[in-house]
Order: sequence, then C-alpha cells, then structure tokens
Amino acid sequence: MPPPRKIIIDTDPGQDDAVAILLALASPKEIKVLGITCVAGNVPLDLTSKNARIVCELAAKPDVKVHAGCDRPLGRDLVTAEHVHGKTGLDGPTLPEPQMPLQEAHAVDFIMETLRNEPPGTVTLCALGPLTNIATAFERAPEIRERVAEIILMGGGYFEGGNITPAAEFNIYVDPQAADIVFRSGVPIVVMPLDVTHKALVTKKRNDAFRALGTSVGVAVAEMTDFFERFDKEKYGSAGAPLHDPCVTAYLLQPDLFTGRHINVEIETQSELTMGMTVADWWGVTNRRPNATFMGDIDADGFFALLTERLGRL
Ligand code: RIB
Ligand code: CA
Repeated sequence: MPPPRKIIIDTDPGQDDAVAILLALASPKEIKVLGITCVAGNVPLDLTSKNARIVCELAAKPDVKVHAGCDRPLGRDLVTAEHVHGKTGLDGPTLPEPQMPLQEAHAVDFIMETLRNEPPGTVTLCALGPLTNIATAFERAPEIRERVAEIILMGGGYFEGGNITPAAEFNIYVDPQAADIVFRSGVPIVVMPLDVTHKALVTKKRNDAFRALGTSVGVAVAEMTDFFERFDKEKYGSAGAPLHDPCVTAYLLQPDLFTGRHINVEIETQSELTMGMTVADWWGVTNRRPNATFMGDIDADGFFALLTERLGRL
C-alpha cells in the first residue's frame, strides 16, 4: 500500500466541512492530515476555528494542528451563511466546547512553511471554503505554487448555476479575487462544483444509516445533516442536504466515484451581476488553456457507502 497522502484541509466549518474532516480523520492509512487551516466563510473566523477543533475532538483526534487564518476576503466584505449553517456554524448536535488549543502560527504561514519544508509535489491542498488563505499564501510566496501536488476544491457550478446568487456558488462568491488567483496559479486543480454536490443528497435512508452507526460520530453527523438540509429542501425541494465538502475527501479515497472534464475555468471578478461565477468552458468553445478537472457526475450510492463505512471507524 502506498504511504498516506499528505494534505492540508483549508476550511470554514460548516456542517458539511465537518463531515469532510471526519472522513479524512477516519482514513489514516490513505490520508495524513498535516494540519487544518481555518478561514472566514460560513461563519466568522472565530467560529470556524472553534468548530474545526470541536470536530477534531469529536473524532477523538485532539492532536491535529488547527490554525486560524484570514478573517475576511481579499477585496470584499465578508458574506457569511448562518441562514444555512445556523448561528454557530455547526448547529444540529450539542457538542462540547473544544479543549485543544489553536496553533500560534497563522494559517497562511503554516501553508507556506509546510510547502517549503515538505518535498515538492507531496502536499495536496483540500479547500472546503473561500480560497482566501491559499491565495494569500500564493501571493506572499509565489515559489510555493510549483511545490503543491494538487488542489482539490469544492466550489463553483456550471449546469447548476449558483447557490448564493443565480450565477455564483458560495465559496467562490465570498472571495472571487482569491479564486481567480488560485485558478490562474498553474497548480493542478480538481473542482467539485454544485453540479456534483447537488447529487450527493442525504436522503432519509442515508441519514438513518449515519444514525444507525450508534456512535457519537454517527449520531452527530445525522444531527448535523438533519439541521443542514432544511435550507436546500426549501430552496430546491431536494431530497436531503447536499454533502458538498465531503466530495473533496472522497475524491482522495476513491477518485473513480467522480467523472468530469479537464477544461478551462475562469472566475468573474468584475461584474456584480455575475461576481464569483465559474465560467467553465465545458463544451470547449474557446481556445483558453485547460486549467482544472471540473467534475460533472458522482456515483452517489458509492459515495455514501464509503462515507458511512469510514465514519463507522471513528
Ligand atoms: O456552496 C457550498 C459551500 O459553501 C460548502 O463548502 C459549504 O460549507 C459552504 O462553505
Ligand atoms: Ca465549506
């Protein structure tokens, strides 16, 4: 078996971020989490950096290094999503206050130093929120870009349009300038857009399977998705909560769950009407250089089988 893949999880927990982190921590043979870097997004930074630690302790992994990062986007006011995730960002289960400390180092410094110290091409960045931390690291230390193995990110949409505006998905919309820096960085990128994550729905049967694990993790995940689903059920009439961010972790474990195309993706950063739109050349109508593998489909049953089995290990 190859050695575990070294990753940094950049995140704005968020219930779906929490499940993505749990899936990674449940898979130490395949994934070595070098650290978790928190960013403002679903809720402000003080809450995302608290929630990340709550999740690590729920997984009984209090030694994970959690760093607080950027508390606002590069060039815009912060937009948060309490209407989806609740006031705490992790509404649903009642979980204890974290005991584990935040690391001293700023998330951006941790990203830069880790990429400088680890052998080139051995660290993968898993981005589950706005791309402010990663873009800031790339701007401050451009030489680290070529040392990144790849970036797997949840963000954007093409056939699905947007979820925070008609044109834009939340992670990209919150910090479009950061997204533009990342998509132009030359780093290999795999994108999990709404086109895929809106097919990863926590139906009642799937939620019951989480609860049936009977563990603190299984019950907490069931309670998180019970809370998290009401927004999407109301808005889209969907059959359950879309598990956006765990698609990123699942790709690391079982990439063949996903299909997509290597295409050009550019970010709208000028027009307020379409701000943060991922302009994905899915049909190859331009001669722009392909810069991202943009996923279009998922084996949802296979995804939930993997997720439920792994959560059962915690
Ligand atoms: O649009 C969905 C994304 O925005 C997810 O990452 C969710 O956690 C929020 O950050
Ligand atoms: Ca997120």
